[in-house]
Amino acid sequence: MSSILIAPSILAADFANLQRDIEMVNESDADWFHIDIMDGVFVPNISFGMPVLKAIAKHAKKPIDVHLMIVDPDRYIKTFAALGSDILTVHYEACPHLHRTLQAIKAEGMKAGVALNPHTNVSLLEDTIKDIDLVCLMSVNPGFGGQSFIENTYNKVKALSALIKKKGAKTLIEIDGGVTDKNAKELVKAGANVLVAGSFVFGSDNQLETIKDLKSKSNA
Ligand code: DX5
Ligand code: ZN
Repeated sequence: MSSILIAPSILAADFANLQRDIEMVNESDADWFHIDIMDGVFVPNISFGMPVLKAIAKHAKKPIDVHLMIVDPDRYIKTFAALGSDILTVHYEACPHLHRTLQAIKAEGMKAGVALNPHTNVSLLEDTIKDIDLVCLMSVNPGFGGQSFIENTYNKVKALSALIKKKGAKTLIEIDGGVTDKNAKELVKAGANVLVAGSFVFGSDNQLETIKDLKSKSNA
């Protein structure tokens, strides 16, 4: 089994010490930077936008995984490619022409991700899964860090894992929201490949240790 990836969510970082927190992730056992972009329309919150991502990308030495919680993401695909996104994830619920959106993301040289809200069934990806590099299963309702994990996520991971196998796809399964050392192992057992963790990492006293511990527990 290939190793489980850890993606700290910068939404939970200290924005007044952003460079320090980026360097911490660079030095840590984490694999990716998870960047949450919220527009206040698709989700009831606004996080940060392009200038902040530009500043992050200047210091980040690991792949940048951008999670767009915005309506009409097609408008900004080229912009996020130019800003240095390696993976660009759009929400299923925000894309009436998902197949076209996925092709447009790949045409810009990025990996294409699709995020599903907690209420969205994984079977809706049956016809696109082979075109999707990563599915981000939301294990909280998107919009805020620090929420508690929705237990039904385990069922969704198993169903998605079965769909990926059935279709012979190579899609990675990412879990986003309320991930801690308490649910990591069970998520991996169910089929998860990438764990996003925001408040669990940045809210801890020793962030480097927390990442190291989460990574080793996930891969044990
Ligand atoms: C929620 C975001 C998440 C969030 C996770 O809308 O997509 O990436 O930052 O934060 P925690 O790990 O605190 O739930
Ligand atoms: Zn996210």
